[in-house]
Amino acid sequence: MRSLLFVPGDSERKLEKGFGAGADVVIVDLEDSVAAANKVAARATAADFISSQRRQTGSAIYVRVNDLSTGLTDADLAVLVPVKPDGIMLPKSNSGQDVQQLAAKLRVHEAENGLQDGGIRVLPIITETAAGVLAAASYAGTSARLAGLTWGAEDLSAAIGARSARGGNGRYTDVFRLARTMTILGAAAAEVAAIDTVFPDFRDMAGLEAECREAERDGFTGKMAIHPAQVPVINAAFTPSAEAVERSQAIVDAFAAAGNPGVVGIDGKMYDRPHLRLAERLLARARAAGISA
Ligand code: COA
Ligand code: MG
Repeated sequence: MRSLLFVPGDSERKLEKGFGAGADVVIVDLEDSVAAANKVAARATAADFISSQRRQTGSAIYVRVNDLSTGLTDADLAVLVPVKPDGIMLPKSNSGQDVQQLAAKLRVHEAENGLQDGGIRVLPIITETAAGVLAAASYAGTSARLAGLTWGAEDLSAAIGARSARGGNGRYTDVFRLARTMTILGAAAAEVAAIDTVFPDFRDMAGLEAECREAERDGFTGKMAIHPAQVPVINAAFTPSAEAVERSQAIVDAFAAAGNPGVVGIDGKMYDRPHLRLAERLLARARAAGISA
């Protein structure tokens, strides 16, 4: 999951474009990009589109449902689970308990639709409430469905009353840096992918690329997008480079050739177990991106 493109669920035109955008995941949105008056129609539009067009796309399909406090989640699932999405994105998740609650609902819908038990993954947005940020550690061990953790700044701003998430220099302010950091740590603790939040300025490709580079450096393995033009930039940034793959393979090979010791020397530099673990992680990402055996 390098790129995850949001597409408003009530727009057939955007669904059409989104399915052809080359994203690893398309997130069909029933939440914030759909007006309250349009929620019912959006479910039907999204379900019809997914069931008729899913063979046309190489992207995995996730559906962002409305959060558990809205009273809309059950109806979202009732209409969308029958078209077999690969995953459900859960917004405004307050803790791992919310994931467990969603997982229990999914189990019933899977049974009702003759789908494999546990087949639908869950990707929560964990920083849209203050409680959510503080509970980042609670996702470990909650559900085998957990596909990753991701974060968002807009709803958190509203939740805490921050006028802006970024300072004059364009950098996130402390609260938002913390939310971002908790996502990385929470995901690592739960042994799932950390996915970076959206870059809203969809004409600023240099800004997007810089933010992708920083995210990849810090341990995120993918990023959400709001516009098809962002997808190739994100895919490129989160695909390990040929040099990085070669370097990682050399480290793995050196450990194997030496009989898997604690430490090896390569070209006059020390490599120990953490280096091996990083190299293995990078090779796994390269395999997932289809660029290494
Ligand atoms: N998915 C699919 N297609 C999209 C798209 C998206 N996320 N964003 C834009 N497009 C399409 C447009 O419909 C347009 O197609 P058209 O020329 O056939 O009409 C084309 O790409 C170019 O779009 P552009 O004119 O550059 O942008 P816009 O002003 O039409 O749209 C947004 C801007 C922000 C409204 C739009 O990108 C969008 O809806 N993004 C997703 C928002 C969302 O889901 N938010 C929730 C998560 S934060
Ligand atoms: Mg939101």
